[in-house]
Amino acid sequence: MMAVCIGIDVGTSGTKALAVSPDGTILASASAHYPCAHPKPLWSEQDPEDWWQATVKVVRAIVKQAKLKPADVAAIGLSGQMHGSVFLDKAGKVIRPALLWNDQRTAAECNEIERRAGGRSKLIGMVANPALTGFTAPKILWLRNHEPRNFARTVKVLLPKDEIRRRLTGEFATEVSDASGTLLLDVVNRRWSKELLGKLELDDSLLPACYESEEVTGTLSAESANLLGLTTACKVVGGAGDCAAGAVGNGIVKPGLLATSIGTSGVVFVHSEQPQFDPQGRLHTFCHAVRGKWHMMGVVLSAGGSLQWFQDALCSAPVKDGGRKATVSFEQLCTEASAVPAGAEGLQFLPYLAGERTPHLDPHARGALIGITLAHGRGHIVRAIMEGVTYALRDSLAIIEGLGVPVKQVRAGGGGAKNPLWRQMQADVFGKAVHAMAADEGPAYGVALLAAVGAGHYKNVTEACAATVKTAESSKPEAKSRKTHDRAFPVFQELYRALKEEFPKLGRS
Ligand code: XUL
Repeated sequence: MMAVCIGIDVGTSGTKALAVSPDGTILASASAHYPCAHPKPLWSEQDPEDWWQATVKVVRAIVKQAKLKPADVAAIGLSGQMHGSVFLDKAGKVIRPALLWNDQRTAAECNEIERRAGGRSKLIGMVANPALTGFTAPKILWLRNHEPRNFARTVKVLLPKDEIRRRLTGEFATEVSDASGTLLLDVVNRRWSKELLGKLELDDSLLPACYESEEVTGTLSAESANLLGLTTACKVVGGAGDCAAGAVGNGIVKPGLLATSIGTSGVVFVHSEQPQFDPQGRLHTFCHAVRGKWHMMGVVLSAGGSLQWFQDALCSAPVKDGGRKATVSFEQLCTEASAVPAGAEGLQFLPYLAGERTPHLDPHARGALIGITLAHGRGHIVRAIMEGVTYALRDSLAIIEGLGVPVKQVRAGGGGAKNPLWRQMQADVFGKAVHAMAADEGPAYGVALLAAVGAGHYKNVTEACAATVKTAESSKPEAKSRKTHDRAFPVFQELYRALKEEFPKLGRS
């Protein structure tokens, strides 16, 4: 029948796979989790082998759940955490753990890139973005500067989902949306920037071939087809970085639509017909997963990640095998937060646990809980965390609107949409109706739609979204809470300014 498409999202906390029929119906879904290592404060690493093991597990699980015969699956779309660096040697072996998108060790390399490029504006002219610590190019330079032996062995650098593509197909390939986050793509012309590669003295053979997102990049190898219970006729399309993939899944493929998503990170994403720029570089300008289109986005590094940290650090207990297990569920924490009024009775949270990108571009920023009194309890803290994250998203929204980009509808995805408290909070903080999606399955859904285009079920991504993506209920701003947030938001912004100079000193102690 060759009609089903599979979407795989290689996330930070785990990998998820979906089996989707051509009309967009979800036939099966599975997830598998893995750890993230923080060998030093503000460092973040994962073992690519964990991604692969999780991928095999979840794909086999959905094939079984949906009772798919090998020939039922026409195509696979890959999505994943952006910017991560998988360093490979000539035998195809991973050289060291991958540095992730929220790793902040590369501040010196970012300066080096700007200097080699001839200054910030020249760099933006080449690759549309300033050098930020989370991006891939500074990680490559970090390897060259700090682990020269590992660098000398490196023949290819792949992004997380593209490492999974290599394991599935044997091909070294990426696509424009994820490639944009390497800082090595000429985003305007949608091809690698030979000019910047030259200035950084990096060989272009380090990079894989770059495709459009719905293009077919290869088919399953005999070995992986066998392992997954699929056939070698199964195509693997380019796919997309998780932000663009999530946006496709939410139908953000035309002007006027904006998506917020709260996963480990928080993202505010707008479609754009032409490359558009924030002159201060606080928003990223990247290629969209829609052919010939772009997007701008603001990224909050610790969104759901802040709440996850709170649960892991303060509401869990050690278990026998050496890990930790939550002793208080998210549901319980959210119930406690719901009982606290908007504004958390003056408690504020700065969510900069891993430094921050939008709007501060500050790898030294730290998390802070400010204004604690004897009257505050756990529910206040949880509410303050959720509100702080939502204020951080409002920072991005304010920059987008300040650039004159029209925002006619806001669609929410991820934990910020599934959780009714957080969705209502977004409506109250943004002062806008916030729509949930009928199929809120995140980036895996978006890349299953890209696979459906690659398999020939749709002419293009816009047509696939029009046929499958539907909004569900919306939350409208509630007047009293909105007023409270309008008063608290400038205080939130001021607190960062007040602490900004102090944060780097903490790193030195
Ligand atoms: C986007 C970014 C994060 C990761 C998380 O620029 O760094 O959203 O993609 O998976």
